[in-house]
Formats: sequence, structure tokens, C-alpha cells
Amino acid sequence: MENSDAKLKEEIISLKTREIAVILAHNYQLGEVQDIADFVGDSLELSQKAAKTDADVIVFCGVYFMAETASILSPDKTVLLPDVHAGCPMADMITAEGLRQRKGELPGATVVCYINSSAEVKAESDVCCTSANAVKVIESLDAEDILFVPDQYLGHYISTKTAKRIIPWPGFCPTHVRIQPQYITNLRQEYPQAKVVVHPECRPEVIALADEVLSTGGMCRFASESEQEEIIVGTEIGIIHRLRKENPRKRFIPASEQAVCPRMKLITLESVLWSLQEMAPQVKVPEEIRLKSKVAVDRMLEIGRR
Ligand code: 13P
Ligand code: SF4
Repeated sequence: MENSDAKLKEEIISLKTREIAVILAHNYQLGEVQDIADFVGDSLELSQKAAKTDADVIVFCGVYFMAETASILSPDKTVLLPDVHAGCPMADMITAEGLRQRKGELPGATVVCYINSSAEVKAESDVCCTSANAVKVIESLDAEDILFVPDQYLGHYISTKTAKRIIPWPGFCPTHVRIQPQYITNLRQEYPQAKVVVHPECRPEVIALADEVLSTGGMCRFASESEQEEIIVGTEIGIIHRLRKENPRKRFIPASEQAVCPRMKLITLESVLWSLQEMAPQVKVPEEIRLKSKVAVDRMLEIGRR
């Protein structure tokens, strides 16, 4: 098995060089996929990389909306998503039509969409955000009523950090809702010295028990910068690979072994190689939608530079 993985890696690297490709991987990807990537990060970091890369081809090891965001920002590049079925169930909980209808009911509300949404939904939104910058983006807006889509739990978390009125869409992440408050309480008893970090996609009852609420990139920074030697991690378990690799002397305890995103796990070394060989499946956002959705994404990136 190890030998065949080594061979796959070798072939991926040689094709990647030949095709002038860059491999971007999300923190939830399988460990072996993270290990062959040129860059591993959270949704914000990955979109920044996708906007800046000089490569001709971006192999996106993540989910569909991430590859779409790369296509929105880098329309002249070939964007590959090694498994076309790697979609985000939360992003699928809202459609552009549904959003248009809700906007009709809330004239005057500013629409902020989580980056976990389709290009069509972004095209209907005023500004986009990720878990790393959601509060900053919303605080920067000259608006009091915010229709926040599609994650009700991130929406709820933001509402505890701002005086603005957050009107949530009822979407959620099926992976993060698996993390129950009781798991955190039990682990705190077992590891009394540990700090608890959770993702803002978790339920409010889980967030209430945490020491830190962070994006996946924020968790990686917290792990390496803090003195903390034991950390209970409330997010998708793929991140544990990177945390352990970067901090071999520290102990990382997943809040739940059940917090697995099956769609993220569809990307394998085999599918990455196949994708580079076939230059497929390609993700390309149609120009009309791209231009509209780019307004929301650019506005987010611009707020981040302030
Ligand atoms: P971040 O890595 O941006 O925190 O997002 C988590 C996530 O669920 C991506 O689908
Ligand atoms: Fe979507 Fe949740 Fe999977 Fe992230 S972890 S891709 S939000 S289902």
C-alpha cells in the first residue's frame, strides 16, 4: 500500500510539473492528499491562493464551492475538482431562486453569504464571508439588517458578536451538527488541562462550551502559537492530521470521531492523478454569473485588506 502511494505521489508530482499545476487542499482533506498539496488551508486562505497563483491549472482538493470560487477569481485558469461529486451539503441547502424570494420578503436587508454557497447564490449576495472573517465583514457594513445565508449556526455565532440584526437562513453543516455538547463536557473531565477550540459551524450549545471559536486556519495558528499542550478540537477530523504533523509534541483530541465530511473524503491520491491525466472534471463558472458573484467575493477580499 505504502509503495503504491509512493508511486502515485511520484506520478502526481511529475504530471503537476509538466502541466504547470498547483495543488490546493482544504484542512479537511485526507492526510495523504494534504501531504502532496502545494498549500493546505482554510476557505479564505485557499481563495487568496487561487486568486494569486501563476500556475496554469489549479487542482482543488476540497469541495465544489471552493473550486467555483477559484474559477470566479481566476477565470483564465483550468480549475480541476478531482471528484465532481464532492459537493457541500450545506451549500446545497439554498438556491438562487429561494434567495431571490427571501430577498423579496426583506427589502432593505443586506445579503451576506457564507463562502459555502454556489456561484449563483453569491451572484445574488452583496458580500461574501468565510468563518475566518465573518464578524469583520459584517461589522464593516453600513447596514443594520443582515440576511445571512446559508449557515444558521454561523449566523447565530455572528449575532452574539455584533449589534446588527442577523436574519439567518435555516441551513447547517451535517458534519458539525454531529458534535454534541455532552462530548465536550465529557472530554473536559477526561482532559482537565485541555483547551477547547470549535468551529463556528457547530451548534450554539457546543460553541457556549468552547474556549476559542475559530476557522480551521485559525485553529492551526492557535495550536502552533499557544503554549497549550492538549487541545480538544471541535471540527471535521481531517484537520487532526495537519495539527499533529505541525505540532508533534502536542496532543489533539477530536471532539467527535463521527465528525467526518464524506464529500471532502471523496478526493483521493488516485482521483488527483486521474484528474491531472484527463484534465477533468473541470469547474468553470459561466461568465455572466462569474461577474456578478465576483463582486461579492472581491468585496470580502477587499475588506480583509483593510
Ligand atoms: P474553514 O476551513 O474556512 O474554517 O471552513 C470549514 C468548512 O466547513 C469548509 O467546508
Ligand atoms: Fe460542507 Fe460541512 Fe463538509 Fe464543510 S464540513 S464541506 S460545511 S458539509
